Amino acid sequence: MTFDAMFNAQLQVLKDEGNYRYFKELERKCGKFPRAADHTEDGSTRDVTVWCSNDYLGMGQHPKVVEAMCEAVRRTGTGAGGTRNISGTNHDHLLLEAELADLHGKEAALLFTSGYVSNWAALSTLGSRLPDCVILSDAGNHASMIEGIRHSKARKVIWKHNDVADLEAKLAALPSNVPKIVAFESVYSMDGDICPMREIVEVAEKYGAMTYLDEVHAVGLYGARGGGVSEQEGLADRITLIEGTLGKAYGVVGGYITGSAALCDFIRSFASGFIFTTALPPAVAAAARTSIRHLKESETERQQQRRQVARLRALLDREGIPHMANESHIVPVMIKDPVKTRMLADYLMDEWGIYVQPINYPTVPKGTERLRFTPSPLHSDADIDHLVSALSHLWRQCALAHAVA
Ligand SMILES: Cc1ncc(COP(=O)(O)O)c(C=O)c1O
Repeated sequence: MTFDAMFNAQLQVLKDEGNYRYFKELERKCGKFPRAADHTEDGSTRDVTVWCSNDYLGMGQHPKVVEAMCEAVRRTGTGAGGTRNISGTNHDHLLLEAELADLHGKEAALLFTSGYVSNWAALSTLGSRLPDCVILSDAGNHASMIEGIRHSKARKVIWKHNDVADLEAKLAALPSNVPKIVAFESVYSMDGDICPMREIVEVAEKYGAMTYLDEVHAVGLYGARGGGVSEQEGLADRITLIEGTLGKAYGVVGGYITGSAALCDFIRSFASGFIFTTALPPAVAAAARTSIRHLKESETERQQQRRQVARLRALLDREGIPHMANESHIVPVMIKDPVKTRMLADYLMDEWGIYVQPINYPTVPKGTERLRFTPSPLHSDADIDHLVSALSHLWRQCALAHAVA
């Protein structure tokens, strides 16, 4: 058997299960979000409306952010010129780290090349370097946290998703003298549910555990200055480490952690995922900083996003299209079958010019396949009407179960 035959055999399993991932070839058009060009297989292009972007507020095309990046490219060039350790630490990185520390009210911040890398590097460093450390991980945590914990080789205890009683039982069962880390997210990206943060923090404090919070789907979006759910709930100062991304609501790319000066210095000094990789381009840092500063001041984008999210939910309800109830900006429409989910997504794209990526296993558990919509402030009322017409047409055609009234 050749290597390619081995690869193809496993790929065929994905295809047979309906879980093979097809990527859409999009070309974003600056100033036109949520419109983008779809490059089709026959080589032509056509405009589609993107309904599944994590550029949640359209900041990736905000004129101030675009200009900040262009200005920094003209000023500093394209790349950082090295790793943070060897010639790659630029002034723009430090400005951004100060901005991030301020965003979360922490002493320090540390930048990474992505949110994935920040979770992976921080959790693997903490778990491997703190003697006898136990990491208590929410069952719904993102792959980047799971992989970081696995790589740390620390003992891992999984607690039931958002279940504080289960967390407490698991904390209570551990020896009192070992270092413990409670790792969780604020907004869970696929169900859009929000954690009971205050209760989690209180239980962690009771057992002397450190709290590790992923705010990737919340920064820029929640809290008066976009500091996330921890800001909204007034809890940021009680959380040991807040992690976030610059690639979603801030519309750029990169990840970060914030915390005490000692914590950030510790990760800076021991995390291979921080040290042994080329630093982010300074222009990326400048653009991200501009985006963060804008969203510290401006409520306009957040308010308009909330309005459009509420409007989409209300119209889905009116049409009896089942969507998961949650408190966030994420609207999951449950299909519960991988093949049907793909078929619906293809149909929406081909017939209605609506792009929504089917969400299948392993991103979500089998049997919970869905279409995940993320309305932004830049989706117009007409965009929402068009989407809901398309969905209700499809629901009637496919005789999918309607929501129980
Ligand atoms: C909860 C969570 N954490 C971290 C990440 C990784 O962030 P980034 O896309 O910046 O790598 C993601 C990505 O979707 C995520 O959903």
